[in-house]
Amino acid sequence: MERLQKILAQAGVASRRKAEELILAGKVALNGEIVRELGTKANPEKDKITVDGRPITIQATVNLILHKPTSYVTTVSDPEGRRTVMDLLTDVNQRVYPVGRLDYDTSGLLFMSNDGELTNRLLHPRYHVDKVYRATVLGMIEKQAVEQLTRGVRLEDGVTAPAEVHVLRKHPLESVVEITIREGRNRQVRRMFEAVGHPVKRLKRVQFGPLVLDDLKPGEWRWLTPDEWAALYAAADLEPPPYAGPIEKARTPQKKRQSGKRQRAQTARRR
Ligand code: URA
Repeated sequence: MERLQKILAQAGVASRRKAEELILAGKVALNGEIVRELGTKANPEKDKITVDGRPITIQATVNLILHKPTSYVTTVSDPEGRRTVMDLLTDVNQRVYPVGRLDYDTSGLLFMSNDGELTNRLLHPRYHVDKVYRATVLGMIEKQAVEQLTRGVRLEDGVTAPAEVHVLRKHPLESVVEITIREGRNRQVRRMFEAVGHPVKRLKRVQFGPLVLDDLKPGEWRWLTPDEWAALYAAADLEPPPYAGPIEKARTPQKKRQSGKRQRAQTARRR
């Protein structure tokens, strides 16, 4: 028996906190009876649970890592018709969502999941998830800029929290720097380097919490390993659900979601 809010979160209905709000608002029914008690427990395999009259379906938890290439948007659909990270999830049967965002011009590790509670926690500053980026920046980076980045940089939305900075290569034309941040503000790394006089030329995320990109190629994805699965839930201070990857691959790739216009353009390019 599990608490209703936990079952709702596992079913991908909402985060646990939002699920509690749904229960308090009288939108959740257990075996035909509206429940408003937050402590109510149920058996997801035997009990009939509905939200707004619609039965919920318990699905396996899916967690995966994608190496996002540049020139893809981190959204489920794009009104401008650009390629999205969803186009790369060939063979994935379940619906997963990007956890956080990488800019159109940024490549690297994108964690994707259908676990709403895990997602909320990983994005919440309280859980201090380290994000490590490798930035190629213009100009020779000097000690003073490194110190500024490390201490915190004043941006228009406030001073950034302390960062860890390692210079990997120094050259008068461009330098390569590895920077670890815990915040996740919009275009934060680019704005930080801009503020210290070194605009970013290339940006790649190589680590997200305990997950490391390693040699996954751009455009490829993979399931988490059991160790990564355990480490990720530990980082979010959550009890891990049963390990569910690798899951059977889909017979119809998600690619099918591409618009007819984009498919026609691709076919024309191949000719
Ligand atoms: N910081 C940025 O500037 N861009 C990203 O995509 C991620 C972090």
